[in-house]
Amino acid sequence: MSRIEIKSRRQIGWMREAGLVVADIHKSLRSAARPGVTTAELDAVSAEAIARAGATSNFLHYYGYPATVCISVNDVVVHGIPDDRVLAEGDLVSFDCGAWVGHDSRQWHGDAAFSMIVGREWIGDADFAAGARSADRVPADADPAVRRRHELDDVTRESLWAALAALATGRRVSAVGRAVEEVVAERAEALGWEAGIIEEYTGHGIGTAMHQAPDVLNFNARGISPKLRPGMVLAVEPMLVAGSIETSTDADEWTVRTVDGADAAHWEHSIALLDDGVCVLTAPDCGAAGLAPYGVAPVVL
Ligand code: MF3
Ligand code: CO
Repeated sequence: MSRIEIKSRRQIGWMREAGLVVADIHKSLRSAARPGVTTAELDAVSAEAIARAGATSNFLHYYGYPATVCISVNDVVVHGIPDDRVLAEGDLVSFDCGAWVGHDSRQWHGDAAFSMIVGREWIGDADFAAGARSADRVPADADPAVRRRHELDDVTRESLWAALAALATGRRVSAVGRAVEEVVAERAEALGWEAGIIEEYTGHGIGTAMHQAPDVLNFNARGISPKLRPGMVLAVEPMLVAGSIETSTDADEWTVRTVDGADAAHWEHSIALLDDGVCVLTAPDCGAAGLAPYGVAPVVL
């Protein structure tokens, strides 16, 4: 088990550069993702945004991964490979991508993911923080399965922000799992169904490599997790499902889907812990809007 890499303020500034590149890729993907577009076309959009920024994809060729973004549709939880699949209105799609920038002869990585429902109006972080939810925009007579898909996206997104806020005040990495479980339980009460938390895949430390110690679990596990320390940077990434948490991997050895065919959603940000607070490196506003409901104001880098 390798040690946790502690970054200087200057190095975290470089990671902020990578984070802003990732935020820019997300913006490009959001405007290009509409009914009729293929996931391969969206990989090209991502590759172009990375090149435009003068950064490098950390997904492409990672253990042989063939694209710059993972695009996971409906029952695919993570690691969906872009191909000729055509997105349709109402698809629940997660986009996970990253990039690194070079400084001091090393790579400084960013990694983040968002989910969206194709063909529906995007809800920005400020509106989400103010209480806007995609499920509230579903017509009253909609199919309950459609409503649930929106609710799943909303719960996952909320669990990410609650977890990021928990890192601002918490003492250990386990604050993330507690926060995700709390949101899931609270929303289950309100919605009448409970999202499942994927356990086989976790968040992670990030820095001079995309995946570093420690693992960042999205559920409460036994045992003691590492203490939070200034200079740590974590990629927090809850993956929730509207059914059983059992998954299987396709023959392509990447695509992870739910065994029961239930929908899955995935949201992720990279967050830096500093002496004077936290900074969500992959959010354009350092997480100011998303953290506000929790009474947390980020350090702005
Ligand atoms: N970004 C994923 C994660 O959040 C890892 C993707 S691996 C890749 O940890 F090979 F698909 F890029
Ligand atoms: Co990640």
